[in-house]
Amino acid sequence: MQITISVPGKLMLFGEHAVVFGHNSLVTSVSQRLTTVVEFSNDDNLILTHKDISNDNYRKSIYELGDGEISKEARFVEISTKNFFQKIGKKKGVKISTQCPFSKKYGFGSSAGVTVGVIAGLAKLFEVPFGKKELFDLSYKTVLEVQGKGSGFDVAAAIYGGTIYFTTGGKIIEPLEVTRIPLIVAYSGIKADTVQMIEKVMKIDNREQIFQEIETITNKARDAMLTKNWEGLGSLMNLNQNLLVKLGVSIPKLDLMIKAANGAGAWGAKLSGAGGGDCMICIAPEEKKAQVEKAITDAGGEVVRVDTGVDGTRIES
Ligand code: PMV
Repeated sequence: MQITISVPGKLMLFGEHAVVFGHNSLVTSVSQRLTTVVEFSNDDNLILTHKDISNDNYRKSIYELGDGEISKEARFVEISTKNFFQKIGKKKGVKISTQCPFSKKYGFGSSAGVTVGVIAGLAKLFEVPFGKKELFDLSYKTVLEVQGKGSGFDVAAAIYGGTIYFTTGGKIIEPLEVTRIPLIVAYSGIKADTVQMIEKVMKIDNREQIFQEIETITNKARDAMLTKNWEGLGSLMNLNQNLLVKLGVSIPKLDLMIKAANGAGAWGAKLSGAGGGDCMICIAPEEKKAQVEKAITDAGGEVVRVDTGVDGTRIES
């Protein structure tokens, strides 16, 4: 028996950084999906096939999961498997392969996606019923074990899909009745390091005051989205971006792309995620979309086509 699971990527809309310290955020899932296939193996090994990891299969005894040196690429799969076995109190050899159609460089949440895909796939394979919150808790624990820091918003987007109102550790995960958001998404060409950026923010003296202001904006953004007030949402993006600049996480390339978007008629724009690189998002009137995209491209950005608010974790077969 082979189980195939697919999960969506994510984008942070509002509240990045503040969410790590107990504030709220707005997150959406994106149409690029990551696929995980799991099946039983014939021996006592975890066998991992992924061209990013090795040309040959990666093998590890199921009795040694988590021990010794683990290559970065294998870590999320191996620790997910170890934690799943621990949770259900039994283990068996499994073969796992993952496929990520979108480039990992965009920061759409491939690590969280792999973690959720593996745990959801194993739950189905071992016939252990896992509710969404249970899947979230085990996946979030795994991501923290591997990565050390993070709110878990990427894990929640992968599981719940749609657009969600989220607070750290999944204390609140509230799906919102929001239809497709007419977002433009563009990659800066620079890969960001999330943990490094969180550590940078932790050194800012007046961060708590800035987080409070971000929280107020995020609540207003939630109302704007629910009423499809896209122009209002754009203005709130600009306000959130100013605060991210104060936190020191924007960079000249993102500033340039955001300025270009606004100069070409966007209602507003901001970076999305940790900052230091990765993507920016913006919202523009339909008739100005093409010129905004051109301005972003001229500023050196790469427009990435995505739909938002898509299905969460899906069992494909
Ligand atoms: O860089 P990304 O897309 O992983 O987003 C990070 C967002 C933070 O709020 C800075 C961290 C987090 O886990 O919420």
